[in-house]
Amino acid sequence: MSNAVEASSAKEEKQMTHENLKKTLVEGLGRDAIEGSIISHETIVRALLEVIKPKRVLEIGTRHGVSSSLFAQYADHVITVDVEKCPESYKEWARKVWDFLGLSDRITPFYAPGVNWKGYNGSKAEFIKKQDFDFAFIDGSHRAKDVEFDFDLVKKSGCVLFHDYKPIGPKYADCKNSRYPEIVQVINHLKPAPYVYGEHRSQYALWISKDSPRRKDPSVMEFLENKAEKVTLMSRLAHDFHFRRHTSGSEAEDE
Ligand SMILES: C[S@@+](CC[C@H](N)C(=O)[O-])C[C@H]1O[C@@H](n2cnc3c(N)ncnc32)[C@H](O)[C@@H]1O
Repeated sequence: MSNAVEASSAKEEKQMTHENLKKTLVEGLGRDAIEGSIISHETIVRALLEVIKPKRVLEIGTRHGVSSSLFAQYADHVITVDVEKCPESYKEWARKVWDFLGLSDRITPFYAPGVNWKGYNGSKAEFIKKQDFDFAFIDGSHRAKDVEFDFDLVKKSGCVLFHDYKPIGPKYADCKNSRYPEIVQVINHLKPAPYVYGEHRSQYALWISKDSPRRKDPSVMEFLENKAEKVTLMSRLAHDFHFRRHTSGSEAEDE
């Protein structure tokens, strides 16, 4: 095969996987592979990645390695962080998913030693501080103090995507989940105000630093103008009001 033909078939193969990651995994490995993943919102996330064009991604919250696989189709490399004490099945699935998709050499997992779902975060912080990346995805713990901690670790990238932006209030009455209001609370108070986009029951928030070159990129700004809304003072106040009433000022319950 000539180099040109090889390159074009490699491109086609990559393109095919691009369009069908969820289907590819469900057909190849079964539905369990995608459990707990954002992959049902594949189209929404892809649309953003197309314009953001990340080169090195840092993800918090690996689970079965599905979202990291999605990022690895756009970026040169993905570093994905989870906690050492997550179930062994998560680690096994992640390995299986990356091998199956041929992405193992583009994804580096880090299972932070001593870190569990509640509490100590130290080894995770030490590891992340040493990494370079231009885009981060936060999809780990749903507790406010962990989300704040994770954001502080990754904001140096200048571009951070959060999953699970589900405010409380009448407009979102059908999005019941006691874990999410805390994430919204943290995101709503970030500066500059993040952009919120996605579907009603599954919204993403994108924070871009004030001095990020992405703010000068017309395709990024056009995407955000057409598809996203900025967190406004009104939306923040509405959420704050309901948050205080629903949680009596204390932390919402975690799983
Ligand atoms: C919703 S799942 C991630 C799903 C994955 N991003 C996807 O879409 O394919 C959340 C993951 O975060 C991990 N996690 C929970 N608390 C964490 C923490 N404090 N630091 C890092 N990871 C955490 C859990 O072990 C779990 O694997």
